[in-house]
Amino acid sequence: MTKVSLNHNFDAARKAKNDEFYTQYHDIEKEMNAYLEFNPDVFRDKTILLPCDDPEWSNFTKYFAQKFTELGLKKLISTSYAPSSKPSQIPYQPTLFELDSPDFDEAKTQSNGKIFTLTQDKTGDGVINVEDLQWSYLEGDGDFRSAEIRALRDEADIIITNPPFSMFREFFGWIVNAKKDFAMIGNMNAITYKEVFPFIQANKVWLGATGNGSDMVFRVPEGFVVAPKDKEKAEKLGYVGDYTRLGNSCWFTSIEHGRRHEPLSLMTMEENKKFNKTIQAVGYAEYDNYVAIEVPRTDAIPSDYEGVMGVPISFLHKYDPEQFEILGSQRWSKSPDLARIYRGKKTLDTDKATLINGKETYDRIFIRHRKPSS
Ligand SMILES: C[S@@+](CC[C@H](N)C(=O)[O-])C[C@H]1O[C@@H](n2cnc3c(N)ncnc32)[C@H](O)[C@@H]1O
Repeated sequence: MTKVSLNHNFDAARKAKNDEFYTQYHDIEKEMNAYLEFNPDVFRDKTILLPCDDPEWSNFTKYFAQKFTELGLKKLISTSYAPSSKPSQIPYQPTLFELDSPDFDEAKTQSNGKIFTLTQDKTGDGVINVEDLQWSYLEGDGDFRSAEIRALRDEADIIITNPPFSMFREFFGWIVNAKKDFAMIGNMNAITYKEVFPFIQANKVWLGATGNGSDMVFRVPEGFVVAPKDKEKAEKLGYVGDYTRLGNSCWFTSIEHGRRHEPLSLMTMEENKKFNKTIQAVGYAEYDNYVAIEVPRTDAIPSDYEGVMGVPISFLHKYDPEQFEILGSQRWSKSPDLARIYRGKKTLDTDKATLINGKETYDRIFIRHRKPSS
């Protein structure tokens, strides 16, 4: 019993600490550039909200404040979470910026969130940028679930952030409920969450243009213990010090970008059988309990197959909704057939959803060509 609760506490603490991963400027810029390439006016005259931020040092705030004029923003709002509410209990020292401000309040510095807004050239130097940000303490702690932050969400046109990782599902629900455009960082595995997949299937949410499957580096609080291999990888990417890297981060967004309108270039089934090493080895298995073929890699999707295909979730990196239709995900399927697909030897003592000849494999999503081509 004790062991279980200790592990539970440890897990909660570990997750809470992962909530303090700070996004790099370059990663934000790359993703925003993809939206801007598709539509140079995507942010024009818009109110942008950056919730779950730490505006005094956040690269999200820095990016949008610096580019306020260039992007033609109407208003930028950025909010932070009160230090005393952060479950990670990371010791908090107010920044010099806050301490030196006439608005500094000893009582509020730990228990209240902050709000930074930018609308005009406050300094009168002829440009609108970081120097013109105005700040105050929030009434509450800045929890995205509070009425205070919900009202800001409802005021905004576009919401952009990297939310606390441990609250991904709740945050995702919060953001889609707003029915506003958004971009948020998350983990690739979230694609198959029952809270997320229906939005992807319905083409209301998609993966961003960048980061998919490549390393994303995050700054961590001083003293945070980073696994040596992650530290090493972050260093190789030029980030030395308090940094870590995650290999499975991606953006979830409802903002258009060009990557999702580039059709995949594919071989026919016969060509794959001749030239694709994976297919030469395993062929295209038909599931025993569902009318579809198993396609183990995205590059092996046959261009001329008219039926349903089970593909790995990494397919979504390359998904063009004009080329394919997504029919479902086995994991959250209500159909007992789909919940566990298999071919050949069926091992019952596993909870893995896909079995090919007794070998467990990752979840599949089911797709079909809109127009198969030979
Ligand atoms: C992954 S960090 C990212 C911070 C910043 N957006 C960035 O990308 O650099 C998530 C932030 O959300 C804060 N946070 C945790 N729980 C929160 C909540 N319930 N409401 C608002 N913010 C929260 C964390 O303390 C942390 O500062």
